[in-house]
Amino acid sequence: MTAVSETIFHTKDLTKVYRSGAQEVHALRGVDFRAARGEFIVILGPSGSGKSTFLNIVGGLDMATAGEAWFEDH
Ligand SMILES: Nc1ncnc2c1ncn2[C@@H]1O[C@H](COP(=O)(O)OP(=O)(O)O)[C@@H](O)[C@H]1O
Ligand SMILES: [Mg+2]
Repeated sequence: MTAVSETIFHTKDLTKVYRSGAQEVHALRGVDFRAARGEFIVILGPSGSGKSTFLNIVGGLDMATAGEAWFEDH
């Protein structure tokens, strides 16, 4: 029997640009991500690579500049 994993969170082409005056910081450039129910995931990367930005958007605390962030069918 094959277990079919249910997607809980997913993102498509998730993009975040911070703008302060003329300065632009491209924190996320087209992130495609999928998390299945019960899956254990570690997000690794150096400081400033966009981990918090990503989690803030997926967690509903911040808005993406472009792309999609889904929780179940929302
Ligand atoms: N509120 C903000 N305004 C402008 N730039 C930001 C802001 N938050 C994060 N950044 C910039 O976005 C990039 C990603 O930051 P962040 O998501 O905090 O990375 P991490 O959590 O991996 O250290 C960095 O260049 C950071 O300086
Ligand atoms: Mg962080």
